[in-house]
Amino acid sequence: MKGIILAGGLGTRLYPLTKVTNKHLLPIHSKPMIYYPLQTLVDAGIENILIVTGGNHAGEFLRLLGNGSEFGLKHLNYTYQEGEGGIAAALDLAEHFADGDKVVVMLGDNIIEKSIKKAVTNFRRQAAGARILIKEVTDPERFGAVEIKNKKIISIEEKPKRPKSNCVVTGIYMYDNQVFDIIKLLKPSRRNELEITDVNNAYLKKGELQYEILDGWWSDSGTFDSLLRANNLVAEMRDEKGKGKG
Ligand code: G1P
Repeated sequence: MKGIILAGGLGTRLYPLTKVTNKHLLPIHSKPMIYYPLQTLVDAGIENILIVTGGNHAGEFLRLLGNGSEFGLKHLNYTYQEGEGGIAAALDLAEHFADGDKVVVMLGDNIIEKSIKKAVTNFRRQAAGARILIKEVTDPERFGAVEIKNKKIISIEEKPKRPKSNCVVTGIYMYDNQVFDIIKLLKPSRRNELEITDVNNAYLKKGELQYEILDGWWSDSGTFDSLLRANNLVAEMRDEKGKGKG
């Protein structure tokens, strides 16, 4: 199993914070944002990781992370996304790296409390298809919203005006190698991006989309409110751990 962190984009929703740096280098509590998804993948036992970056200041990732020795890694892989093509377009750049293996993909601005080790183990055992991690939120219209009936996913809609439930797809996705064929058939969405939701819906149509509910809190950090929320959640978690030690 290989890991891919998507850390490109211009981060326009965070202007002017991202005018002179990459969103994933902004601080979350005491560390740059990218540290958190990287640690999540490493903690799940994934050692072969690719960082897809893009936009401005992509070179800073190398200076910051080097070969990943701070995370106990021997090596880190990097690639560069030219232009703005959406999450699925960024993932497409990982085809060569994946080289036929299954992949765990994590959006570089997703911060989670707990481990995804169990889900990764379940995906290792899954014969084929995809596995997504979902979570209940209060603002589903900001995300890929999931409709579930009888414990089965019926549909996923990207940022719907009227979400069919409060469950959304988090930025943690597991795919088999079919994902790259699926991406090549995608058409750009209304916001002119190749949407990861369309990838998940393609797996759903084939009857090959499994899901699990993510354990613990989850936050994205691509807007001012969610960036603050992610900072606060990490700070609270640190406080709790600190108390435990005392
Ligand atoms: C993206 C996906 C969305 C998903 C979210 C998770 O949204 O398009 O389906 O729920 O990440 O963070 P974006 O960050 O582009 O708003």
